[in-house]
Amino acid sequence: MSRARMLVVVLLGVSVMVLGTAQSGIAQDAQAGEKVYKLQCMKCHGESGAGDGKEAAKLKEKPHNWTEGKGDLKTMDDTKMFEIISKGGPAVGKARTMPAYPKLSEGDVRNVMAYIKMFRK
Ligand code: HEC
Repeated sequence: MSRARMLVVVLLGVSVMVLGTAQSGIAQDAQAGEKVYKLQCMKCHGESGAGDGKEAAKLKEKPHNWTEGKGDLKTMDDTKMFEIISKGGPAVGKARTMPAYPKLSEGDVRNVMAYIKMFRK
């Protein structure tokens, strides 16, 4: 490969990376949040937010049926919602069966928040 060609390839790579970050920086992207939800949350909270995921039955303290307006989802402010997702139930005085997700980026947490807010009734 010539030097010029290589430079073009490198520049293209860099611009794709820059564009990619700019896009994932969009706050509260429910569509991106749906992916996080399906990977991490659906097993307990259920596909429609009804709290009927596969693992929910095994839990002593079960997730609420958000589609019927149960639980605190409808009244929870963003700060508290962010806390319970990143630090887990006990961090906000709730059940430890709600796990902490310290590895989710701030963007991912905001995205999944945007997604679950659509379950609010
Ligand atoms: C292992 C099962 C489990 C998983 C996985 C799980 N949750 Fe929960 N979650 C719960 C339970 C149980 C509660 C209810 C806690 C309580 O009321 O004390 C809860 C409560 C919540 C609440 C507070 C609102 C309410 O219902 O009172 C939010 C918000 C929430 N979860 C978001 C999420 C998100 C987002 C994910 C994925 C990143 C997730 N949860 C993954 C079990 C789970």
